Amino acid sequence: MRSFDQQSETILKPVIIGLLGLGTVGQGVASILGRNAEEITRRAGRKIEVRHAAVRDTGKSRSTDLSGIELTTNSSDVVNQPDVDIVVELMGGTDDALKLVLTAIEQGKHVVTANKALIAMHGNEIFSAAQKHGVVVSFEPAVAGGIPIIKAIREGLTANRINKVAGIINGTGNFILTEMRDKGRTFDDVLQEAQQLGYAEADPTFDVEGIDAAHKLTILASIAFGIPLQFDRVYTEGITRISRQDVQYAEALGYRIKHLGVTVEREAGIEIRVHPALVPERKLLANVNGVMNAVLVDSDAVGETLYYGPGAGAEPTGSSVVADLVDVVRTLTTDPENRVPHLAFQPDLLSEKPVLPSGDFLTASYLRLLAADKAGVMADVTRILAENEISIEAMLQKEPAEGEQEVPVILLTHLCLESNTDKAIAEIEKLASIKQKVMRIRVESLDG
Ligand code: NAP
Ligand code: HSE
Repeated sequence: MRSFDQQSETILKPVIIGLLGLGTVGQGVASILGRNAEEITRRAGRKIEVRHAAVRDTGKSRSTDLSGIELTTNSSDVVNQPDVDIVVELMGGTDDALKLVLTAIEQGKHVVTANKALIAMHGNEIFSAAQKHGVVVSFEPAVAGGIPIIKAIREGLTANRINKVAGIINGTGNFILTEMRDKGRTFDDVLQEAQQLGYAEADPTFDVEGIDAAHKLTILASIAFGIPLQFDRVYTEGITRISRQDVQYAEALGYRIKHLGVTVEREAGIEIRVHPALVPERKLLANVNGVMNAVLVDSDAVGETLYYGPGAGAEPTGSSVVADLVDVVRTLTTDPENRVPHLAFQPDLLSEKPVLPSGDFLTASYLRLLAADKAGVMADVTRILAENEISIEAMLQKEPAEGEQEVPVILLTHLCLESNTDKAIAEIEKLASIKQKVMRIRVESLDG
Protein backbone atom coordinates (compact mmCIF):
# COMPACT_ATOMS: atom_id res chain seq x y z
CA MET A 1 0.00 0.00 0.00
CA ARG A 2 1.27 3.48 -0.84
CA SER A 3 1.87 6.12 1.85
CA PHE A 4 -0.52 9.10 2.07
CA ASP A 5 2.16 11.36 0.52
CA GLN A 6 2.63 9.02 -2.44
CA GLN A 7 -1.12 8.72 -2.85
CA SER A 8 -1.72 12.44 -2.54
CA GLU A 9 0.45 13.04 -5.58
CA THR A 10 -2.16 11.18 -7.56
CA ILE A 11 -5.07 12.99 -5.94
CA LEU A 12 -6.46 15.37 -8.52
CA LYS A 13 -6.21 19.13 -8.23
CA PRO A 14 -7.55 20.49 -4.94
CA VAL A 15 -11.14 21.63 -4.56
CA ILE A 16 -11.02 25.40 -3.99
CA ILE A 17 -13.15 27.04 -1.33
CA GLY A 18 -14.27 30.67 -1.21
CA LEU A 19 -15.15 31.55 2.38
CA LEU A 20 -17.63 34.33 3.11
CA GLY A 21 -16.87 35.22 6.74
CA LEU A 22 -13.98 34.39 9.06
CA GLY A 23 -15.69 34.97 12.41
CA THR A 24 -16.44 32.34 15.05
CA VAL A 25 -17.47 29.61 12.60
CA GLY A 26 -15.19 30.64 9.70
CA GLN A 27 -12.11 30.46 11.93
CA GLY A 28 -13.29 27.10 13.29
CA VAL A 29 -13.53 25.79 9.73
CA ALA A 30 -10.08 27.12 8.75
CA SER A 31 -8.52 25.54 11.87
CA ILE A 32 -10.10 22.13 11.27
CA LEU A 33 -9.18 22.09 7.58
CA GLY A 34 -5.57 22.94 8.50
CA ARG A 35 -5.20 20.56 11.45
CA ASN A 36 -6.96 17.54 9.93
CA ALA A 37 -5.97 18.11 6.29
CA GLU A 38 -4.62 14.60 5.76
CA GLU A 39 -7.60 12.78 7.31
CA ILE A 40 -10.04 15.00 5.43
CA THR A 41 -8.29 14.45 2.09
CA ARG A 42 -8.33 10.68 2.64
CA ARG A 43 -12.06 10.86 3.30
CA ALA A 44 -13.01 13.29 0.53
CA GLY A 45 -10.69 11.92 -2.14
CA ARG A 46 -9.50 15.45 -2.99
CA LYS A 47 -7.58 18.11 -1.11
CA ILE A 48 -9.76 20.96 0.15
CA GLU A 49 -8.07 24.36 0.07
CA VAL A 50 -9.43 27.70 1.27
CA ARG A 51 -7.93 30.21 -1.17
CA HIS A 52 -10.21 33.28 -0.87
CA ALA A 53 -12.10 34.76 2.09
CA ALA A 54 -14.26 37.84 2.62
CA VAL A 55 -14.42 39.73 5.91
CA ARG A 56 -15.56 43.18 6.99
CA ASP A 57 -12.17 44.18 8.43
CA THR A 58 -9.01 42.69 6.90
CA GLY A 59 -6.89 44.21 9.70
CA LYS A 60 -8.65 42.33 12.52
CA SER A 61 -6.50 39.74 14.32
CA ARG A 62 -7.74 36.16 13.83
CA SER A 63 -7.02 33.07 15.88
CA THR A 64 -6.20 30.83 12.94
CA ASP A 65 -3.36 30.49 10.41
CA LEU A 66 -4.48 32.36 7.31
CA SER A 67 -1.42 31.74 5.14
CA GLY A 68 -2.42 30.98 1.56
CA ILE A 69 -5.79 32.73 1.99
CA GLU A 70 -6.39 35.94 0.04
CA LEU A 71 -8.52 38.28 2.20
CA THR A 72 -10.89 40.88 0.78
CA THR A 73 -13.74 43.02 2.02
CA ASN A 74 -15.60 42.46 -1.26
CA SER A 75 -17.64 39.29 -0.85
CA SER A 76 -18.81 39.30 -4.50
CA ASP A 77 -15.14 39.02 -5.53
CA VAL A 78 -14.87 35.74 -3.63
CA VAL A 79 -18.00 34.32 -5.26
CA ASN A 80 -16.87 35.47 -8.71
CA GLN A 81 -13.33 34.05 -8.50
CA PRO A 82 -13.13 31.60 -11.41
CA ASP A 83 -11.09 29.05 -9.43
CA VAL A 84 -13.68 28.76 -6.60
CA ASP A 85 -15.58 25.44 -6.72
CA ILE A 86 -17.53 25.73 -3.46
CA VAL A 87 -18.75 28.90 -1.72
CA VAL A 88 -19.03 28.57 2.07
CA GLU A 89 -21.35 31.25 3.47
CA LEU A 90 -20.55 32.00 7.13
CA MET A 91 -21.30 35.71 7.38
CA GLY A 92 -24.96 35.61 8.51
CA GLY A 93 -27.84 37.93 7.63
CA THR A 94 -30.30 37.32 4.84
CA ASP A 95 -30.02 40.14 2.27
CA ASP A 96 -26.40 40.05 1.08
CA ALA A 97 -26.16 36.35 1.89
CA LEU A 98 -29.13 35.55 -0.38
CA LYS A 99 -27.71 37.54 -3.30
CA LEU A 100 -24.26 35.95 -2.92
CA VAL A 101 -25.63 32.41 -2.63
CA LEU A 102 -27.89 32.85 -5.68
CA THR A 103 -24.95 34.30 -7.65
CA ALA A 104 -22.79 31.32 -6.70
CA ILE A 105 -25.55 28.91 -7.78
CA GLU A 106 -26.05 30.70 -11.10
CA GLN A 107 -22.31 30.29 -11.73
CA GLY A 108 -22.63 26.53 -11.14
CA LYS A 109 -20.84 26.68 -7.77
CA HIS A 110 -21.88 24.46 -4.88
CA VAL A 111 -22.73 26.15 -1.57
CA VAL A 112 -22.35 25.21 2.09
CA THR A 113 -24.02 27.50 4.63
CA ALA A 114 -24.45 27.65 8.41
CA ASN A 115 -27.10 30.32 7.98
CA LYS A 116 -30.40 28.97 9.30
CA ALA A 117 -32.20 32.29 8.84
CA LEU A 118 -31.28 32.22 5.16
CA ILE A 119 -32.44 28.62 4.63
CA ALA A 120 -35.63 28.97 6.72
CA MET A 121 -36.70 32.18 4.96
CA HIS A 122 -35.35 31.71 1.42
CA GLY A 123 -34.58 27.99 1.19
CA ASN A 124 -37.44 27.20 -1.23
CA GLU A 125 -36.07 29.74 -3.73
CA ILE A 126 -32.45 28.68 -3.14
CA PHE A 127 -33.13 24.95 -3.59
CA SER A 128 -35.16 25.52 -6.71
CA ALA A 129 -32.28 27.57 -8.20
CA ALA A 130 -29.80 24.88 -7.11
CA GLN A 131 -31.92 22.21 -8.79
CA LYS A 132 -32.08 24.24 -11.99
CA HIS A 133 -28.29 24.69 -12.08
CA GLY A 134 -27.45 21.17 -10.91
CA VAL A 135 -25.56 22.21 -7.77
CA VAL A 136 -25.73 21.19 -4.13
CA VAL A 137 -26.60 23.54 -1.24
CA SER A 138 -25.67 21.95 2.09
CA PHE A 139 -26.74 23.27 5.48
CA GLU A 140 -25.92 20.74 8.24
CA PRO A 141 -24.26 23.43 10.45
CA ALA A 142 -27.47 25.48 10.33
CA VAL A 143 -29.25 23.17 12.80
CA ALA A 144 -27.93 22.11 16.22
CA GLY A 145 -24.30 23.13 15.63
CA GLY A 146 -22.07 20.04 15.75
CA ILE A 147 -24.85 17.41 15.81
CA PRO A 148 -25.31 15.76 12.39
CA ILE A 149 -29.10 15.93 12.73
CA ILE A 150 -29.92 16.81 9.12
CA LYS A 151 -28.02 13.79 7.86
CA ALA A 152 -29.56 11.58 10.56
CA ILE A 153 -33.13 12.48 9.58
CA ARG A 154 -32.63 12.89 5.83
CA GLU A 155 -30.54 9.78 5.30
CA GLY A 156 -30.26 7.62 8.45
CA LEU A 157 -34.03 7.61 9.13
CA THR A 158 -35.14 7.64 5.50
CA ALA A 159 -36.99 4.32 5.91
CA ASN A 160 -39.26 5.78 8.59
CA ARG A 161 -42.47 7.73 8.78
CA ILE A 162 -41.57 10.43 11.29
CA ASN A 163 -44.14 11.27 13.96
CA LYS A 164 -42.43 13.93 16.02
CA VAL A 165 -39.19 15.85 16.40
CA ALA A 166 -38.58 17.64 19.70
CA GLY A 167 -35.40 19.21 20.89
CA ILE A 168 -33.27 21.83 22.51
CA ILE A 169 -31.93 23.57 19.43
CA ASN A 170 -30.55 26.85 20.72
CA GLY A 171 -27.30 26.62 22.67
CA THR A 172 -27.39 30.19 23.98
CA GLY A 173 -30.89 29.81 25.46
CA ASN A 174 -30.04 26.49 27.08
CA PHE A 175 -26.80 27.93 28.47
CA ILE A 176 -28.77 30.81 30.01
CA LEU A 177 -31.48 28.59 31.55
CA THR A 178 -28.87 26.19 32.95
CA GLU A 179 -26.66 28.86 34.51
CA MET A 180 -29.69 30.66 36.00
CA ARG A 181 -30.99 27.44 37.53
CA ASP A 182 -27.69 25.92 38.72
CA LYS A 183 -25.77 29.02 39.78
CA GLY A 184 -28.51 31.59 40.34
CA ARG A 185 -26.85 33.92 37.79
CA THR A 186 -28.84 36.72 36.17
CA PHE A 187 -30.19 36.48 32.63
CA ASP A 188 -28.13 39.45 31.34
CA ASP A 189 -24.88 38.26 32.90
CA VAL A 190 -25.13 34.79 31.30
CA LEU A 191 -26.18 36.22 27.92
CA GLN A 192 -23.07 38.40 27.94
CA GLU A 193 -20.88 35.34 28.54
CA ALA A 194 -22.65 33.45 25.70
CA GLN A 195 -21.80 36.36 23.40
CA GLN A 196 -18.13 36.33 24.48
CA LEU A 197 -17.96 32.58 23.85
CA GLY A 198 -19.26 33.08 20.27
CA TYR A 199 -22.53 31.15 20.88
CA ALA A 200 -25.02 33.98 20.40
CA GLU A 201 -26.36 35.37 17.14
CA ALA A 202 -25.23 38.82 15.98
CA ASP A 203 -28.59 40.00 17.37
CA PRO A 204 -29.03 37.92 20.56
CA THR A 205 -32.79 38.57 20.69
CA PHE A 206 -32.90 35.88 17.96
CA ASP A 207 -31.66 33.43 20.59
CA VAL A 208 -33.72 34.49 23.60
CA GLU A 209 -36.98 35.20 21.74
CA GLY A 210 -36.93 31.81 19.99
CA ILE A 211 -36.42 33.16 16.45
CA ASP A 212 -33.18 31.23 15.93
CA ALA A 213 -34.83 28.03 17.18
CA ALA A 214 -37.81 28.75 14.88
CA HIS A 215 -35.45 29.03 11.89
CA LYS A 216 -33.93 25.65 12.80
CA LEU A 217 -37.31 24.02 13.48
CA THR A 218 -38.62 25.22 10.11
CA ILE A 219 -35.81 23.22 8.50
CA LEU A 220 -36.35 20.16 10.70
CA ALA A 221 -40.11 20.12 9.98
CA SER A 222 -39.46 20.21 6.24
CA ILE A 223 -37.00 17.35 6.20
CA ALA A 224 -39.07 15.30 8.67
CA PHE A 225 -42.44 15.68 6.94
CA GLY A 226 -41.55 16.59 3.35
CA ILE A 227 -43.26 20.02 3.38
CA PRO A 228 -41.93 23.29 1.90
CA LEU A 229 -40.07 25.58 4.32
CA GLN A 230 -42.67 27.79 6.07
CA PHE A 231 -40.94 29.97 8.67
CA ASP A 232 -43.88 32.40 8.80
CA ARG A 233 -46.18 29.59 10.09
CA VAL A 234 -44.04 28.72 13.13
CA TYR A 235 -45.48 29.53 16.57
CA THR A 236 -42.63 31.20 18.47
CA GLU A 237 -42.24 32.10 22.14
CA GLY A 238 -38.96 33.03 23.88
CA ILE A 239 -37.56 32.47 27.36
CA THR A 240 -37.58 36.04 28.62
CA ARG A 241 -40.84 35.62 30.60
CA ILE A 242 -39.54 32.65 32.61
CA SER A 243 -39.11 33.61 36.27
CA ARG A 244 -37.04 31.94 38.98
CA GLN A 245 -40.38 31.25 40.70
CA ASP A 246 -41.61 29.15 37.75
CA VAL A 247 -38.31 27.24 37.66
CA GLN A 248 -38.77 26.40 41.37
CA TYR A 249 -42.45 25.38 41.08
CA ALA A 250 -41.64 23.23 38.07
CA GLU A 251 -38.96 21.47 40.11
CA ALA A 252 -41.38 20.92 42.99
CA LEU A 253 -43.65 19.11 40.52
CA GLY A 254 -40.79 16.96 39.12
CA TYR A 255 -40.09 18.98 35.95
CA ARG A 256 -37.35 21.17 34.45
CA ILE A 257 -38.09 24.15 32.21
CA LYS A 258 -36.43 23.85 28.80
CA HIS A 259 -36.76 25.92 25.62
CA LEU A 260 -38.02 23.40 23.09
CA GLY A 261 -38.67 23.23 19.38
CA VAL A 262 -41.42 20.70 18.70
CA THR A 263 -42.89 19.58 15.39
CA VAL A 264 -45.55 16.89 15.30
CA GLU A 265 -47.62 15.45 12.49
CA ARG A 266 -51.32 15.24 13.42
CA GLU A 267 -54.18 14.06 11.23
CA ALA A 268 -55.31 17.62 10.42
CA GLY A 269 -51.85 19.07 9.83
CA ILE A 270 -48.45 19.76 11.28
CA GLU A 271 -47.64 21.59 14.49
CA ILE A 272 -44.42 23.63 14.39
CA ARG A 273 -43.82 25.39 17.69
CA VAL A 274 -41.00 26.89 19.75
CA HIS A 275 -41.66 27.72 23.40
CA PRO A 276 -40.47 27.06 26.94
CA ALA A 277 -41.84 23.79 28.28
CA LEU A 278 -41.89 21.75 31.47
CA VAL A 279 -40.10 18.47 30.75
CA PRO A 280 -40.27 15.57 33.27
CA GLU A 281 -36.91 15.56 35.08
CA ARG A 282 -36.40 11.84 34.42
CA LYS A 283 -36.27 12.48 30.65
CA LEU A 284 -32.87 12.81 28.99
CA LEU A 285 -33.87 16.12 27.38
CA ALA A 286 -34.45 17.61 30.85
CA ASN A 287 -30.81 16.86 31.65
CA VAL A 288 -29.25 18.51 28.60
CA ASN A 289 -27.35 21.44 30.04
CA GLY A 290 -25.22 24.41 29.04
CA VAL A 291 -24.55 24.95 25.34
CA MET A 292 -25.42 21.32 24.58
CA ASN A 293 -28.33 20.59 22.23
CA ALA A 294 -30.34 17.40 21.88
CA VAL A 295 -32.96 16.32 19.38
CA LEU A 296 -35.41 13.48 19.95
CA VAL A 297 -36.94 11.90 16.86
CA ASP A 298 -39.93 9.59 17.16
CA SER A 299 -40.43 7.53 14.03
CA ASP A 300 -42.42 4.43 13.18
CA ALA A 301 -39.80 1.79 12.38
CA VAL A 302 -36.92 2.56 14.73
CA GLY A 303 -38.95 4.23 17.53
CA GLU A 304 -37.26 6.98 19.51
CA THR A 305 -33.70 8.07 18.69
CA LEU A 306 -31.85 10.87 20.47
CA TYR A 307 -29.00 13.01 19.12
CA TYR A 308 -26.86 15.00 21.56
CA GLY A 309 -23.88 17.34 21.25
CA PRO A 310 -22.61 20.94 21.30
CA GLY A 311 -25.18 23.23 19.70
CA ALA A 312 -22.89 26.20 18.99
CA GLY A 313 -19.27 27.30 18.99
CA ALA A 314 -16.37 27.54 16.53
CA GLU A 315 -15.15 23.97 16.10
CA PRO A 316 -18.39 22.06 16.78
CA THR A 317 -20.10 24.11 14.07
CA GLY A 318 -16.94 23.97 11.94
CA SER A 319 -17.13 20.19 12.20
CA SER A 320 -20.55 20.24 10.50
CA VAL A 321 -19.35 22.70 7.84
CA VAL A 322 -16.39 20.48 6.95
CA ALA A 323 -18.64 17.39 6.92
CA ASP A 324 -20.83 19.14 4.35
CA LEU A 325 -17.74 20.14 2.35
CA VAL A 326 -16.57 16.53 2.21
CA ASP A 327 -20.07 15.44 1.13
CA VAL A 328 -20.10 18.04 -1.64
CA VAL A 329 -16.61 17.02 -2.80
CA ARG A 330 -17.77 13.38 -2.92
CA THR A 331 -20.77 14.35 -5.06
CA LEU A 332 -18.66 16.21 -7.63
CA THR A 333 -18.61 13.05 -9.70
CA THR A 334 -22.33 12.18 -9.23
CA ASP A 335 -25.03 13.27 -11.71
CA PRO A 336 -27.31 15.97 -10.24
CA GLU A 337 -30.39 13.67 -10.52
CA ASN A 338 -28.79 11.04 -8.29
CA ARG A 339 -27.92 13.25 -5.34
CA VAL A 340 -29.62 13.31 -1.93
CA PRO A 341 -32.57 15.76 -2.22
CA HIS A 342 -32.04 19.04 -0.34
CA LEU A 343 -35.15 18.63 1.82
CA ALA A 344 -34.95 14.81 2.03
CA PHE A 345 -37.97 14.30 -0.27
CA GLN A 346 -37.92 14.64 -4.06
CA PRO A 347 -38.73 18.32 -4.80
CA ASP A 348 -41.75 17.51 -6.98
CA LEU A 349 -43.20 15.22 -4.30
CA LEU A 350 -43.42 17.61 -1.36
CA SER A 351 -46.63 17.40 0.71
CA GLU A 352 -49.30 20.10 0.88
CA LYS A 353 -50.37 19.10 4.39
CA PRO A 354 -51.10 22.37 6.24
CA VAL A 355 -49.15 23.78 9.15
CA LEU A 356 -51.69 24.13 11.98
CA PRO A 357 -52.55 27.44 13.68
CA SER A 358 -51.68 27.44 17.41
CA GLY A 359 -55.35 27.08 18.47
CA ASP A 360 -55.34 23.60 16.91
CA PHE A 361 -52.23 22.41 18.78
CA LEU A 362 -52.78 19.60 21.25
CA THR A 363 -50.78 20.45 24.37
CA ALA A 364 -50.77 20.17 28.17
CA SER A 365 -50.11 23.29 30.25
CA TYR A 366 -48.65 24.54 33.53
CA LEU A 367 -50.83 27.43 34.73
CA ARG A 368 -49.69 29.72 37.56
CA LEU A 369 -52.40 31.90 39.08
CA LEU A 370 -52.27 34.42 41.88
CA ALA A 371 -55.59 33.94 43.69
CA ALA A 372 -57.32 35.65 46.62
CA ASP A 373 -56.96 33.41 49.67
CA LYS A 374 -60.70 32.83 50.23
CA ALA A 375 -63.33 30.10 49.82
CA GLY A 376 -64.87 29.43 46.40
CA VAL A 377 -61.98 30.70 44.24
CA MET A 378 -60.74 27.28 43.21
CA ALA A 379 -64.33 26.15 42.57
CA ASP A 380 -64.68 28.96 40.00
CA VAL A 381 -61.35 28.09 38.36
CA THR A 382 -62.06 24.36 38.11
CA ARG A 383 -65.58 25.07 36.77
CA ILE A 384 -64.11 27.21 33.96
CA LEU A 385 -61.58 24.51 33.12
CA ALA A 386 -64.28 21.81 33.06
CA GLU A 387 -66.56 23.95 30.85
CA ASN A 388 -63.66 24.19 28.38
CA GLU A 389 -63.07 20.42 28.45
CA ILE A 390 -59.76 20.73 30.28
CA SER A 391 -58.95 18.16 32.94
CA ILE A 392 -56.46 18.76 35.72
CA GLU A 393 -53.49 16.44 36.22
CA ALA A 394 -51.95 18.05 39.32
CA MET A 395 -52.41 21.05 41.57
CA LEU A 396 -50.06 22.84 43.95
CA GLN A 397 -51.20 25.60 46.31
CA LYS A 398 -48.63 27.59 48.28
CA GLU A 399 -49.16 29.26 51.64
CA PRO A 400 -49.64 33.04 51.35
CA ALA A 401 -46.46 34.94 52.18
CA GLU A 402 -46.41 36.74 55.58
CA GLY A 403 -49.02 39.52 55.54
CA GLU A 404 -50.20 38.64 51.98
CA GLN A 405 -53.83 37.95 51.06
CA GLU A 406 -53.04 36.15 47.82
CA VAL A 407 -51.69 32.69 47.12
CA PRO A 408 -49.89 31.27 44.12
CA VAL A 409 -51.73 28.26 42.70
CA ILE A 410 -50.14 25.96 40.12
CA LEU A 411 -52.25 23.70 37.91
CA LEU A 412 -51.03 21.09 35.43
CA THR A 413 -53.57 20.18 32.77
CA HIS A 414 -53.90 17.10 30.60
CA LEU A 415 -53.55 17.39 26.81
CA CYS A 416 -56.24 19.55 25.23
CA LEU A 417 -56.80 21.88 22.29
CA GLU A 418 -54.90 25.15 22.78
CA SER A 419 -57.93 27.18 21.72
CA ASN A 420 -59.71 25.74 24.81
CA THR A 421 -56.76 26.63 27.06
CA ASP A 422 -56.64 30.18 25.61
CA LYS A 423 -60.39 30.60 26.23
CA ALA A 424 -60.20 29.23 29.77
CA ILE A 425 -57.24 31.52 30.63
CA ALA A 426 -59.15 34.56 29.35
CA GLU A 427 -62.18 33.63 31.51
CA ILE A 428 -60.04 32.93 34.60
CA GLU A 429 -58.29 36.29 34.24
CA LYS A 430 -61.71 38.00 34.36
CA LEU A 431 -62.49 36.56 37.84
CA ALA A 432 -62.30 39.26 40.54
CA SER A 433 -60.43 36.83 42.79
CA ILE A 434 -57.56 36.40 40.26
CA LYS A 435 -54.97 39.09 40.82
CA GLN A 436 -52.67 39.03 37.81
CA LYS A 437 -52.33 37.53 34.36
CA VAL A 438 -52.11 33.74 34.29
CA MET A 439 -48.63 32.43 33.52
CA ARG A 440 -48.91 29.53 31.05
CA ILE A 441 -46.00 27.26 30.10
CA ARG A 442 -46.61 24.18 27.99
CA VAL A 443 -45.77 20.72 29.35
CA GLU A 444 -44.06 18.17 27.08
CA SER A 445 -44.15 14.68 28.53
CA LEU A 446 -42.05 13.53 25.52
CA ASP A 447 -43.79 10.16 25.60
CA GLY A 448 -44.00 8.60 22.14
P1 NAP B 1 -19.47 36.14 13.30
O1 NAP B 1 -18.52 35.66 14.33
O2 NAP B 1 -20.16 37.44 13.52
O3 NAP B 1 -18.71 36.18 11.90
C1 NAP B 1 -19.24 36.77 10.76
C2 NAP B 1 -18.11 36.92 9.74
O4 NAP B 1 -18.63 37.43 8.54
C3 NAP B 1 -17.00 37.86 10.20
O5 NAP B 1 -15.74 37.38 9.80
C4 NAP B 1 -17.32 39.17 9.45
O6 NAP B 1 -16.17 39.93 9.18
C5 NAP B 1 -17.90 38.61 8.16
N1 NAP B 1 -18.86 39.49 7.50
C6 NAP B 1 -20.06 39.90 7.98
N2 NAP B 1 -20.69 40.69 7.07
C7 NAP B 1 -19.86 40.77 6.01
C8 NAP B 1 -19.92 41.43 4.77
N3 NAP B 1 -20.98 42.17 4.43
N4 NAP B 1 -18.88 41.29 3.91
C9 NAP B 1 -17.81 40.55 4.23
N5 NAP B 1 -17.69 39.88 5.40
C10 NAP B 1 -18.70 40.00 6.28
O7 NAP B 1 -20.62 35.07 13.05
P2 NAP B 1 -20.59 33.50 13.34
O8 NAP B 1 -20.96 33.26 14.76
O9 NAP B 1 -19.35 32.91 12.82
O10 NAP B 1 -21.86 33.03 12.49
C11 NAP B 1 -21.82 32.96 11.09
C12 NAP B 1 -23.06 32.23 10.59
O11 NAP B 1 -23.10 30.93 11.16
C13 NAP B 1 -24.40 32.89 10.98
O12 NAP B 1 -25.33 32.67 9.97
C14 NAP B 1 -24.81 32.10 12.24
O13 NAP B 1 -26.19 32.09 12.45
C15 NAP B 1 -24.32 30.74 11.87
N6 NAP B 1 -24.01 29.83 12.99
C16 NAP B 1 -23.26 30.27 14.03
C17 NAP B 1 -22.94 29.38 15.04
C18 NAP B 1 -22.08 29.78 16.21
O14 NAP B 1 -21.91 28.96 17.14
N7 NAP B 1 -21.55 30.99 16.24
C19 NAP B 1 -23.41 28.05 15.00
C20 NAP B 1 -24.18 27.65 13.90
C21 NAP B 1 -24.48 28.55 12.91
P3 NAP B 1 -15.26 40.55 10.38
O15 NAP B 1 -14.67 39.36 11.08
O16 NAP B 1 -14.22 41.37 9.71
O17 NAP B 1 -16.20 41.31 11.25
N1 HSE C 1 -26.87 31.22 18.32
C1 HSE C 1 -27.01 29.85 18.01
C2 HSE C 1 -27.22 29.08 19.29
C3 HSE C 1 -25.78 29.35 17.31
O1 HSE C 1 -26.92 29.59 20.36
O2 HSE C 1 -27.71 27.94 19.23
C4 HSE C 1 -25.91 27.93 16.82
O3 HSE C 1 -26.84 27.82 15.80
